[in-house]
Amino acid sequence: MQLAERMNLISESITLKVSAKAAALKKAGVDVVGFGAGEPDFDTPDFIKDVAKASLDKGLTKYTPTPCFPELKQAIADKFNRENKLAYKPENVTTGAGGKHCLYMAFMALLNPGDEVLIPSPYWVSYPEQVKLAGGVPVVIKGQESRGFKITPQQLEASITPKSKVFIINSPSNPSGIAYTPDELAGLAEVIVRHPQVVVFSDEIYEKLLYDDMTFASFATLNPALFDRTLTFNCHSKSFAMTGWRVGYVGGPKPAIDAMNKLQSQINSHITSFTQHAAAAALNDPRGQESVKKMLVHFQQRGQHMWQRLSALPDVICVRPQGAFYCFPNVSAYFGKSINGVKIEDAIGFSSALLESDHVAVVPGNDSGFETHVRLSFATSMEQIDKGIDRIALFLKKLA
Ligand SMILES: Cc1ncc(COP(=O)(O)O)c(C=O)c1O
Repeated sequence: MQLAERMNLISESITLKVSAKAAALKKAGVDVVGFGAGEPDFDTPDFIKDVAKASLDKGLTKYTPTPCFPELKQAIADKFNRENKLAYKPENVTTGAGGKHCLYMAFMALLNPGDEVLIPSPYWVSYPEQVKLAGGVPVVIKGQESRGFKITPQQLEASITPKSKVFIINSPSNPSGIAYTPDELAGLAEVIVRHPQVVVFSDEIYEKLLYDDMTFASFATLNPALFDRTLTFNCHSKSFAMTGWRVGYVGGPKPAIDAMNKLQSQINSHITSFTQHAAAAALNDPRGQESVKKMLVHFQQRGQHMWQRLSALPDVICVRPQGAFYCFPNVSAYFGKSINGVKIEDAIGFSSALLESDHVAVVPGNDSGFETHVRLSFATSMEQIDKGIDRIALFLKKLA
């Protein structure tokens, strides 16, 4: 069978290969410490599950309007107004099967062939792949480790060309765990304001997972000129521990939202019927925010602990995480060394050797534009964090 040429545009995820290997080892009875998961280890709060169960019992198992029931759109618009100071009306929001689907629909709705999309690195693995599928050209702006992986307004300005169409900003960030301050974001916003052809995709899915005294600001609020040029992405996956439910949402200018709804009407019609009222309840009910705050306390302690332990490993550099649930250490000092006759050349080699030799699963940074780093998720218990890092310490000693 001859596959479409577009399938050659995207690469198979290295992350998935490492996860598959870790899963195979686990299945074979090996005690693997998993730092790969990009999802909270907490359960979805009961009050949300109860609404979904009631929806099933009420028979909400049929088609719904595209993209969802009006109650969910209203709940999303209210959330944006209340929590983000974004004056979106229900007509300015849409839903999708997770944040990932929302982003893909937005690229499909906005990009023409050859349009450039500015992506600060390290980046979430799917951005460049989705851009390529939609006919765009990813343009990576490298975040320097010495500046906490944050790009500067000067770097952004220098990357903009007449073909630039979208600038993606993801703060707090996957995979680096860093977060921009509102002032730093305002500096980037000033640059974007000067280039009216550029639309901003602000991926705010980790907005609630912010540590220390960091404050969150939605990009579209930073400058009045940006409100009509920004799409704000969010989802229930991380804030409410609902990764498997596949609920994502976007706010933005009506023409873009209408275009995404048009796409959705021909592709998937709507998100799953019996999740919709539960998704609205997660946003409307104060228990939603209470559950996020509880998770946050754990993530803050675990993140600080994992960072301290990683930083104490010889020749490992780790920028302190300020948000999300990831540490992103630089392990390049060990490249060129060998274990069991295999030489480690980059983060993929490091991750495979670590998994095989000492049974710790981490995600190589190659898919995120950083082949010198690996990502460790601290969405796991303190015991697992200590056990895994003890094993990494042993592994590093074995490298010669
Ligand atoms: C930065 C970022 N954006 C979007 C997504 C997609 O979220 P979802 O699981 O809701 O599709 C993820 C998931 O890991 C992510 O880390």
